[in-house]
Amino acid sequence: MSFRRVRVYGEEVLRQKAQEVASISPEIIDLITDMNDTMRRSSGIGLAAPQIGVSLRVILFTQGFESKNPEVRALINPEIVSHGDSTKVMDEGCLSIPDVNGKVSRWEHITVSAMDPEGNKLDFSVAGISARIIQHEIDHLDGILFIDRLSPLKRDIIKRRLKKRLKKESNHE
Ligand code: NI
Repeated sequence: MSFRRVRVYGEEVLRQKAQEVASISPEIIDLITDMNDTMRRSSGIGLAAPQIGVSLRVILFTQGFESKNPEVRALINPEIVSHGDSTKVMDEGCLSIPDVNGKVSRWEHITVSAMDPEGNKLDFSVAGISARIIQHEIDHLDGILFIDRLSPLKRDIIKRRLKKRLKKESNHE
């Protein structure tokens, strides 16, 4: 297992549309292992492959986050095929945008189709935090960050703050 650097706001890979995985090769299994390692060490509850610099449609999410035994699951080529009518607004953060959070509206109930690492086709319904994590991670695969989904006012404030942060960091190089 190896830890891979988490890409942060300002890096191009986070804004790219990730490619579908054509087949589950040993490289994909290694990728999932590294994603697991990176997410655990970063204390994350979800991760998308572009966040470690790989523009492929692979995500991790934590299932049973509210239960005693949360379990990390990997999804390959995940897709939201349907959703309920209700949405919920909750605070979100992202390993790629440290020290920033904001309220994001997400579907409460979604139905997902994907492949698991063994190559089985999955179709399942999920609600609550797990559904939120999956929506956040699938956004990453489309180059969308949670700050893009904030209210325009809050988004502007945060983007200005991030721009300043980037400038400061590049001045230190
Ligand atoms: Ni994220």
